[in-house]
Amino acid sequence: MDRIRIVGGRPLSGTIPISGAKNATLPLMIASLLTEGTLILDNVPRLADVITLQRILANHGVDIMLSGKRAGDSAYQGQTMHISAARIVDTTAPYELVSKMRASFWVIAPLIARMGEARVSLPGGCAIGTRPVDLLIMALERLGAKIEIDGGYVVARAPNGLKGNEIVFPKVTVSGTHTALMAASLAHGTTVIENAAREPEIKDVADCLNKMGAKISGAGQSRIVIEGVSKLSGARHSVLPDRIETGTYAMAVAMTGGDLTLAGARPELLQSALDVLVQAGVEVQSTNVGLRVARNGHGLAPVNVTTQPFPGFPTDLQAQLMALMTRANGTSHITETIFENRFMHVQELARLGAHIHLDGETATIEGVDKLKGAPVMATDLRASVSLVIAALAAEGETMVNRVYHLDRGFERLEDKLAACGAEIARISS
Ligand code: EPU
Repeated sequence: MDRIRIVGGRPLSGTIPISGAKNATLPLMIASLLTEGTLILDNVPRLADVITLQRILANHGVDIMLSGKRAGDSAYQGQTMHISAARIVDTTAPYELVSKMRASFWVIAPLIARMGEARVSLPGGCAIGTRPVDLLIMALERLGAKIEIDGGYVVARAPNGLKGNEIVFPKVTVSGTHTALMAASLAHGTTVIENAAREPEIKDVADCLNKMGAKISGAGQSRIVIEGVSKLSGARHSVLPDRIETGTYAMAVAMTGGDLTLAGARPELLQSALDVLVQAGVEVQSTNVGLRVARNGHGLAPVNVTTQPFPGFPTDLQAQLMALMTRANGTSHITETIFENRFMHVQELARLGAHIHLDGETATIEGVDKLKGAPVMATDLRASVSLVIAALAAEGETMVNRVYHLDRGFERLEDKLAACGAEIARISS
């Protein structure tokens, strides 16, 4: 298993190119199942989760071609992926594949909508909580699917097609909204989704579906209206920039001090997180290439933050903010409201010398003068990267174990940071 070695204490300066968003790429790839035509995605990041999903789609009979690197291409450019689900050969998504990545459960929506049947393994719990799929099932049932749970699988049937309906989510859910959008696009009649998730990745997927011929209005707002169509076609779409990667590097430079340009970032996708950084005393500026984030000479002020669905502060930046606040001049409070168990980084940050007290869903972080390097490991993607942020400011060497978590969602993390002055290297074993 690879490890990452970091020696802390160096400020970051320079430019980091922001990759395409993981959490848009995955549902966009899944949306390819809705059409016989070819979906071409640009700006696809090179991530372990993308490779896992390629395998899952291949099992359904999907052909995927990644365009080769052409002369003049910079290594920083995202990939172009041609996805063709001309013929779906299998409507089952087996446990061995779905258990590798939860989002693969979402194939249930395009499969039932296009094929009238789907048999998809229940994904099970994960490191950040039980993460049920009851609301995804509710959405499909509202559209007329008959659902049974059989041997750990969700078996969905709609031999005469899905029918548009009203879907009211009792809580905001990204996975539920993606499922409803994809399924309703090919349903007969009109669907109205109330209390839809407003995350930018939902809007990105809806924009792509509209290019494929869907009739979706209101994506990005709480009420989405979808007029079903009988067929979707191929299209070409460029994945939006990753707001979580952007926020992560913004917090990294806030931690180390220095001056970073995050090229290709779209500040409006993470305004709430940028507001928190400004409150902490970090300089944040929109520029014509993206975003500039700097901290020179000032200490960090403590903050109080609660995670919320978009446009609130994202749960996917909670661990990174906590790492940052370990060095603030005073006491911060961070409350996690989206996932029930997303604090595994707390004990690992403590190994680096952080003072964090957990009480239910709230963490109280007392800023300390210095952190000290140590071997650490983490159990999920965002927790791992919070350890990298802490390590960048810790005295001496930190060894981050279980790097495969990072590879799921951060493209070339160590190269991007090393190019901006960090002492960081991957140790392959
Ligand atoms: N929930 C239910 N029932 C459901 C679905 C969700 O109770 O049927 C609950 C969840 O357990 C959770 C809350 O609702 O407590 C929100 O879940 P949501 O469906 O919004 O999350 P998700 O779609 O499973 C996506 C991202 C996550 C991100 C969340 C919240 C992808 C592939 N995943 O998950 O990203 O944290 O939205 O923004 O888009 C990550 O990238 O590290 C990551 C975990």
